[in-house]
Amino acid sequence: VKIDLISANDLSRADIDLYLEGATWVAGASPSEKLALLRGRILMAMFFEPSTRTRLSFESAMCRLGGNAIGFSDVAATSVSKGESFLDTVHTVENYADILVIRHSREGAARIAAEASRLPVINAGDGTNQHPSQTLLDLYTIRRFFGRLEGIRIALVGDLKYSRTVHSLFRALRLFDGVSFRLVSPPSLKMPDYLLPAGQDSVQQGSDLVEAVSDCDVIYMTRIQKERFPDVVEYERLKDSYRLDAKMLTGAKPHLKVMHPLPRVNEIANDVDPTPCSGYFEQVANGVIMRQAILLHLLGARP
Ligand code: CP
Repeated sequence: VKIDLISANDLSRADIDLYLEGATWVAGASPSEKLALLRGRILMAMFFEPSTRTRLSFESAMCRLGGNAIGFSDVAATSVSKGESFLDTVHTVENYADILVIRHSREGAARIAAEASRLPVINAGDGTNQHPSQTLLDLYTIRRFFGRLEGIRIALVGDLKYSRTVHSLFRALRLFDGVSFRLVSPPSLKMPDYLLPAGQDSVQQGSDLVEAVSDCDVIYMTRIQKERFPDVVEYERLKDSYRLDAKMLTGAKPHLKVMHPLPRVNEIANDVDPTPCSGYFEQVANGVIMRQAILLHLLGARP
């Protein structure tokens, strides 16, 4: 039976533990130990939307495991630009690879591909819906910072309506005991109701970032995503809703970590980078570790 990685909603606590264990193994293994694990295997990166981290870290992860990566990140240079359908594209490129990594602007695109293809499929972000590999690397990063995930108090800040990253993370973190949330956003960018749990004791909604900084362990910032807004005037009104700078961190708990899936625009000032609170470049580094663990698991090559 093939395994796909499509949504945080599909992941049990045991699944997440397996990925976290895999990443811990990858982090401790020597480069030469890993280099034979996926020799001869090919990753197909199908990026219908822009990316820096997700595409390149998956490609890097494949190379570090001895495999190869091919694909496209410029749809205009593929036959999609001549009118070829998404599924015909999937059925074509599955002949060239062993695993598909798909980013698409349409919610559900990766699941449709997974149902149609005989290959394992990784959802590298589908519209405003899900970004599960980002969530796994975020969980790994939080556990590295605090030694645990249980009992963490985290603020999810910014565009909670359209951010697939926080939609996945919000779901996955609720599988860990005692995690509590502050959801901080402008009223029009609130977390969609359908993503809120029934009993909301552990979830506090508001719009005040300063309050969140004072009582959370993690501040998870997000970009206000221009590309998701149907109305550019609304984007212009909201784009600078939050900006975290070093001065604002003076009221924080000493162990506070600031995270961000990146790319950032203005929401974290550069003066946060050299502070001990900054955690977003560690997320980037952990991305290639977790993505090696994901590839090993989905390709049945866990050592
Ligand atoms: N975090 C993330 O998905 O970054 P990219 O858009 O650069 O892949």
